[in-house]
Amino acid sequence: MRGPAPEAPEQAPVPDVFDPRQYAQGIPHDRYRHLRDHHPVAWQEEPEVLGWPAGPGFWAVTRHADVVHVLKDSATYSSYLGATQIRDPDPADLPFIRRMMLNQDPPHHRRLRVLVSRAFTPKRVDRFAAVVRERARSLLTRAVAEARATDGTCDLVARVTDDYALLNLTDLLGVPDSDRGLLLHWTQRVIGYQDPDEAGTAVLGPDGKPVNPRSPAALRDMFDYAHALAAHKRQHPGDDVMTALATDPELTGPELEMFFFLLVVAGNDTVRSAAPGGLHLLAQHPDAYRRLRIGEVGLATAVDELLRRHPSVLTFRRTATQDTELAGTRIRTGDKVVVFHASANHDERVFPDPYALDLSRSPNPHISFGDGPHVCLGAHFARLQLRALYDEARRALPPGPLHLVAPPRRLVSNFINGLKSLPVRVADS
Ligand code: HEM
Repeated sequence: MRGPAPEAPEQAPVPDVFDPRQYAQGIPHDRYRHLRDHHPVAWQEEPEVLGWPAGPGFWAVTRHADVVHVLKDSATYSSYLGATQIRDPDPADLPFIRRMMLNQDPPHHRRLRVLVSRAFTPKRVDRFAAVVRERARSLLTRAVAEARATDGTCDLVARVTDDYALLNLTDLLGVPDSDRGLLLHWTQRVIGYQDPDEAGTAVLGPDGKPVNPRSPAALRDMFDYAHALAAHKRQHPGDDVMTALATDPELTGPELEMFFFLLVVAGNDTVRSAAPGGLHLLAQHPDAYRRLRIGEVGLATAVDELLRRHPSVLTFRRTATQDTELAGTRIRTGDKVVVFHASANHDERVFPDPYALDLSRSPNPHISFGDGPHVCLGAHFARLQLRALYDEARRALPPGPLHLVAPPRRLVSNFINGLKSLPVRVADS
């Protein structure tokens, strides 16, 4: 008699890494590791969540080598076809969204990239170094003084890092002081839209459901503002990025509006995530923090290691332009392909001891700033800000470890790795 047929070897189940709510508990490192080991290109369902409609699903790419491949091969993995967010844009909004260089492919992308790079030279950025440092010092000193006068604790997000990121960006862009609140409002609306805490900033449609924050309807006021600011800069030029853009004869009005939008969202929430993310890691690793404080490790490698462990961006999306294969998985024309930055940054195939915080790690090929044609244009400015912040923190904060007084609150988002609070003890009460 024949015995029962041997069972087919069980496939390890595919964990969900899409649901934005899980990111409020922390980065799902166990799930990422499981995907890297067993399903490096894994199909993810995209059910309706938090009032946002269901989508067709996508491929999650979690290994470092595959992420770099997707980001570099823009002929196969397009930023243009379906833009760069997991959620599919409304088809009616797509032409509008594609005007932004983030959502374009070479060779068209190249023209805009060259134009904006001219306004964004390292020389111009470096001129803000002293102002940035002074801002770090004054925000930290004020936070410590306020804490001394109360219970000795302070929320570094509310008192230091939110203002730090926003004010540095508005300086670089040349936005007048009186308008800075508007920028914060706009970025919260675009980035925080998955988070019920930030829902008050959403624009609602006639059905009472949130309007896609990247649609023309939701962005009209920001674009009107970009126009008015550009007109102001032509009359009153300054040494800032908006003056450079507004006076560039090759840039059209709609292109300028889009640049303004791109810089406001790309330049604010990313630093707003990285700054407290790095401080949180330093609080969790007192020995690494001690070595940084006494100068045993350099600030440059420290900044990159903190960015590796806490990337500001969790995902970016591409769309397959043709049938292809990635890590042995068939991908069809039109499929969504999503890269996972925090997973790639902890890939044990590339980073020895990936969960350790080694502030002198070198080389450190993290992909927190992306790779390929869209690699972050603001990386120099971001690193400059983070170096100044950590350097001033080791002076302004009291000696000894940084004590968390409560767990930080995290943003509900599968896009931005945001911290909404970071309560620490900064003085004796
Ligand atoms: C820690 C801070 C930052 C991080 C982690 C970060 C991350 C990124 C990433 C991952 C991309 C690639 C997007 C893609 O693959 O489609 C990107 C693009 C970009 N970033 Fe950043 N960014 C940061 C700060 C900034 C700042 C401060 C600015 C400007 C003031 C900026 C401006 C841009 C622009 C304009 C692009 C689009 C480039 C293109 O499409 O060619 N970023 N950033």
